[in-house]
Amino acid sequence: MSDFINKTYLVTGATSGIGRATALALLKAGAFVGVNHYNDHDGFDDLVRELKDQCPEAGNRIIELPGDVSKRQAVEQMVAVLVEHTQRLDGLINNAGISQIKPFIEITDEDWDQLINTDLKSVFLCCQAAIPHLQKTGGTIVNVASELALTGRARFAHYTAAKGGVISLTRSLAREFAPEIRVNGIAPGPTKTPMLDAEAQVPGHQEPVDDIPMKRVATAEEIADSILFLASEKAGYFCGEIISPNGGSVMR
Ligand code: NAI
Repeated sequence: MSDFINKTYLVTGATSGIGRATALALLKAGAFVGVNHYNDHDGFDDLVRELKDQCPEAGNRIIELPGDVSKRQAVEQMVAVLVEHTQRLDGLINNAGISQIKPFIEITDEDWDQLINTDLKSVFLCCQAAIPHLQKTGGTIVNVASELALTGRARFAHYTAAKGGVISLTRSLAREFAPEIRVNGIAPGPTKTPMLDAEAQVPGHQEPVDDIPMKRVATAEEIADSILFLASEKAGYFCGEIISPNGGSVMR
């Protein structure tokens, strides 16, 4: 997609799963990509190795941005470093997130705060830091929510509350910053990533794949394709929209 050539994107949580696939796709499409991670330098090295194999010419367009997206100072620093490097910011992909499966009654204050801070406050912080730069370029924001925010799910109360917040924040920002900045979101169904693999280890937890009309979970690359679509000029009239690639399990 030529839309991305020499543009600059920040992808949070970009050394694993959906974020990693998104960063790779943007790099292959010709973009400069700020790859945020939290204490995962090995994951960053691994991404650089894969990039060397698949798209060696992209090696000088990848910028490592370690930092905790739930901390204002870290977020402001990563945006500043990226903009200093490329002199511009065209897109922000708020992807970093954690999940936890726990009966509602057992969720502690610490669990709640960690999940809300990582999955929701991070979007607030990253958007605040990025928007002044995106206003200069007419940029775009894609927030990664979850299909579970649309359906709810037992033992996911704090996760779904955070992702529901991401959807509401997406719509309010879309209204506040259009037409300069397009803000949209994505609410994926279950996707084969380290997060889903970790959830599968939780006793009593199972993905109901047989109930999904497509009879499988998504690949990270499929979700990345939808994120790139929303970030591209092809989605030029999408504003405050939440698209949900979920194999047909939620039809609206
Ligand atoms: P993952 O666990 O493979 O990747 C998440 C990334 O976020 C990791 O790189 C992790 O280091 C990073 N991260 C976590 N806390 C961070 C922090 N404080 N600061 C910076 N980075 C941090 O997970 P996956 O599956 O790729 O998830 C990506 C996003 O997609 C998440 O927001 C998740 O909630 C969402 N999602 C995932 C689905 C799935 O089935 N895998 C379905 C729907 C949404």
